[in-house]
Amino acid sequence: MKRYVILISGRGSNMQALIEANLPGTCAGIISNRPEAAGLAWAAARGLPTAIIDHKAFPSREAFDAALAAEIEARGGELVLLAGFMRVLTEGFVRRFAGRLVNIHPSLLPAFPGLHTHEAALAAGVRIHGCTVHFVTPALDSGPIIIQAAVPVLAGDTAEALAARVLAQEHRIYPQAARAILTGRCRLADDGRVVWQGEATPAGAALCVPAEG
Ligand code: GRF
Repeated sequence: MKRYVILISGRGSNMQALIEANLPGTCAGIISNRPEAAGLAWAAARGLPTAIIDHKAFPSREAFDAALAAEIEARGGELVLLAGFMRVLTEGFVRRFAGRLVNIHPSLLPAFPGLHTHEAALAAGVRIHGCTVHFVTPALDSGPIIIQAAVPVLAGDTAEALAARVLAQEHRIYPQAARAILTGRCRLADDGRVVWQGEATPAGAALCVPAEG
């Protein structure tokens, strides 16, 4: 069984979705860079191993990332799932975990990298928005795409309403992607492409437009 760790900074709803999916692996730790992250309490209440590595306790990004990497490796973490982890990771960290480091981003990348994606989508007037699970590379929110899910932008949408519609899809596709990696069905090839058991795309898993609205 592969061992995976989940990195969080806050609420942890994607972490919950991953845990509740009963992934084919062992959760080796829920690690937060913020002591007050609500997700930590949820995990601890379920008997999951938790750890705090407070980024404020380190003099530099490199020192924080070194401590984080050491914690992951001490726990035997093979797959690292970023779930609302709000720290930019150094190139050294990203390279150390290349092909084993995955993120969920609340937009259809490459559109709207960075923060405030729902506000940006509304301001741009897009009709379709969504979320992306991708392997992490040194450039922010730009790594090879594993699965995306799309939702409609509806008349009168607020950023909050749109975020909720997207979040429901995040909770669906992140466990799908993690499961596919843990079972070996999906991997990052040496040339930087995502390979699905020889296929270019997982049939039926790439797009979801809910019927609501
Ligand atoms: C999610 O929208 C995720 O895509 C983004 O930050 C948010 C975290 O939410 N990276 P949660 O902590 O998983 O509830």
